[in-house]
Amino acid sequence: MSDNLIEKSEDAGIMRLTLNRPKALNALNSDLIKALDETLDELEARRDLRAVLITGAGEKSFVAGADISEMRDKTPEEARIFAGQALATVKRLERLPVPVVALVNGFCLGGGCELALACDWAVASDNAVFGQPEVGLGVIPGFGGTQRLPRRVGPAMALDLITTGRKIDANEALRIGLVNRVVPQGELESVAEEITKQLKGNGPQAVRAAKQAVHDGMDQDLDSALALETSLFALCFASEEQSEGMGAFVEKRKPNF
Ligand code: CAA
Repeated sequence: MSDNLIEKSEDAGIMRLTLNRPKALNALNSDLIKALDETLDELEARRDLRAVLITGAGEKSFVAGADISEMRDKTPEEARIFAGQALATVKRLERLPVPVVALVNGFCLGGGCELALACDWAVASDNAVFGQPEVGLGVIPGFGGTQRLPRRVGPAMALDLITTGRKIDANEALRIGLVNRVVPQGELESVAEEITKQLKGNGPQAVRAAKQAVHDGMDQDLDSALALETSLFALCFASEEQSEGMGAFVEKRKPNF
């Protein structure tokens, strides 16, 4: 069951995950969340993992939210469990030690936007639509949106989106810093290949250290975070990657990581 809900393809440690419920616009139901969680078991165990790219199946939707049909009859306690499981899964994705990039190929609403927010950065196709429409359903974002959205775009813009439930297009998402790049729909694939190529050219341990410095540092005061950066910078000099990377520069050749 879980296997085809998440399609996986890999290129030298760069794992591409496709959430695969296109008939429901890849809405996150319990089965899909469980499948993602099981996939994370695999990914967390992979020492050779270099990055994760995550997208939705079909041309219309990244993820159109948590599954409304499944949530409709939940009691408060059942809703707490459902959100708790999804939140834990999303957090595991966020905490992977490698870059996680959302390739937003269409609707990115509610829980879908919250999933994208847990990714390190996002590239959107020009047909993408973003929003937190939960208040229109009589609920609030439950997969981290009230916390990660203000951290990404600032509290005023987050409250605008969360309290009005309005949808925004890809260019507005770019303007407010919700996504990093917008590309024509047909070019999302070539951008994924470009990102893969760039990541493959870099020292994998250095990329992991960079993610750790940013993520762990954001939770600390500036002086502690800068001290963390210094420690991680110094640690890089204990690696073969540093010898190879700097050696290659001096010898005027490409590094072989
Ligand atoms: N949950 C369950 N099913 C969904 C869904 C969702 N979030 N979004 C879309 N679908 C289903 C539709 O019910 C429809 O199924 P059927 O063909 O069986 O009727 C199918 O996907 C296609 O959807 P539409 O026919 O509605 O497609 P459209 O192009 O006319 O509209 C849309 C697209 C604007 C995205 C619309 O589907 C929509 O508004 N979806 C709901 C978006 C939403 O409110 N998301 C937030 C959910 S709540 C949440 O996420 C809570 C949280 O924070 C955890």
